[in-house]
Amino acid sequence: MTTNPPFKLLDLLELCPSDSVAPNSAAKVEKDGLTLAVYHLGDEFYVTDDQCTHGPGSLSEGYIDGDTIECDFHNGAFNIRTGEVVTPPCMVPLRTYAVQVIDGKVYIDPNQPAFAAAQACPKQQAS
Ligand code: FES
Repeated sequence: MTTNPPFKLLDLLELCPSDSVAPNSAAKVEKDGLTLAVYHLGDEFYVTDDQCTHGPGSLSEGYIDGDTIECDFHNGAFNIRTGEVVTPPCMVPLRTYAVQVIDGKVYIDPNQPAFAAAQACPKQQAS
């Protein structure tokens, strides 16, 4: 079950079947030139860029602790819902995407940040 976002997804990009990402895990998905980490936390799905903003770490290979993803390269961490930095050496927030699950498939709008990210940092915009 996924909560509908409070805004309309304008440009849906299908990523993967929702059952391909086990609960409390992440999976790397490459689609339309994007390399993404799809997270399944509880009943919700979240999507961020897969590459850590600090370096070459792949966040889908990191460690999930609650709503935090820890990069396995230098142990920096981000909030999965908002993209905010939780632990240095990361300094730059992680790009997030608005997500919706429709008929068992995970979609993003590549042009909109996650709602929680937009609330946490209204200036966060997808580029
Ligand atoms: Fe992720 Fe350095 S590459 S913390």
